[in-house]
Amino acid sequence: MANFSFSATLLSWYQTHKRSLPFRDTHNAYLIWLSEIIFQQTRITQGLAYYEKFARRFPTPAALAQADEDEVLKLWQGLGYYSRARNLHAAAKSMNGQFPTTYDGVRALKGVGDYTAAAICSMAYNMPYAVVDGNVYRVLARVFGIETPIDTTTGKKEFTARAQKLLDKKRPGDYNQALMDFGALVCTPQAPRCQDCPLAKTCVARRENRIGKLPVKVQKTKITERFFHYIYVEQGRFVWLHKRGAGDIWQNLYELPLVETDTNDPLKKSPAWCGRAKLHPVGKPLKHVLSHRVIWAQLYTVKLPPSAKCPTEFIRVKKSALERYAVPRLVQKLLEQESL
Ligand code: ADE
Repeated sequence: MANFSFSATLLSWYQTHKRSLPFRDTHNAYLIWLSEIIFQQTRITQGLAYYEKFARRFPTPAALAQADEDEVLKLWQGLGYYSRARNLHAAAKSMNGQFPTTYDGVRALKGVGDYTAAAICSMAYNMPYAVVDGNVYRVLARVFGIETPIDTTTGKKEFTARAQKLLDKKRPGDYNQALMDFGALVCTPQAPRCQDCPLAKTCVARRENRIGKLPVKVQKTKITERFFHYIYVEQGRFVWLHKRGAGDIWQNLYELPLVETDTNDPLKKSPAWCGRAKLHPVGKPLKHVLSHRVIWAQLYTVKLPPSAKCPTEFIRVKKSALERYAVPRLVQKLLEQESL
């Protein structure tokens, strides 16, 4: 299939089927960056409310740079992949109030990789950079019958070169978004809508019955299990919280005091800071699925006397102020369990 007809067919499909999205009405590079970071690992329907919230609260790089990291994380709460929020904030601080205007300047921002730089520069500045994301791998692998695994250096190079060749250099922003919308709405991972597909006649995967086999991936993601025991420590009007550190998931988010074990058995021993107070399990362990791990989390409550000393790794906050802290979705779910 000629490059020209692929791109022209796609753009004409886009004209009638494009999703109406708020960041498509702007050439403001800062807002486009914001939207791309939010939508990177997030479905459009889930991310839209977050985009609106961020764009309203932080309409400029300076507004975002001046915010407290805790506030940025709180606003991000529930979206997952929190390093995106930390990088977003760090990048805003590095801008001196001015969003970069060159590809290299955009690519150098913390948290911006090849995909995001190409997306921003094509949409905001009309620069001829093709995006390569999961949608693009899938559509190109199927339409052109490409079997090179997408999670290899060779695969990345081959798909990037192909995408760059196909790019409509006059309308790079529209072309890139057409490919993404097409992958999200028609050429979906499961049960693609081939009956509505304008490329069906020329699609190699369809002709050769290989739709379910493309794109090819070599590495299976390894899933590890972890076992968390969260303790809701009540001390009069106060509860204890812990701010998570570097080197693990949920950096800089807050959580309840945590004991991690190697098995799913209930805690046999209370932490020393509980003194003689007894832990009470609440409900059953909750299963929480993340991209590379499954966390089993059991909640306990314990009531401590006013004289109990709060170790320095924890902070004491009023129960009524608990909701001001950014907590992982799992902790939120545990707290909702018993409306603690
Ligand atoms: N996913 C992330 N950014 C997108 C965009 N600009 N258009 C369609 N899907 C997207």
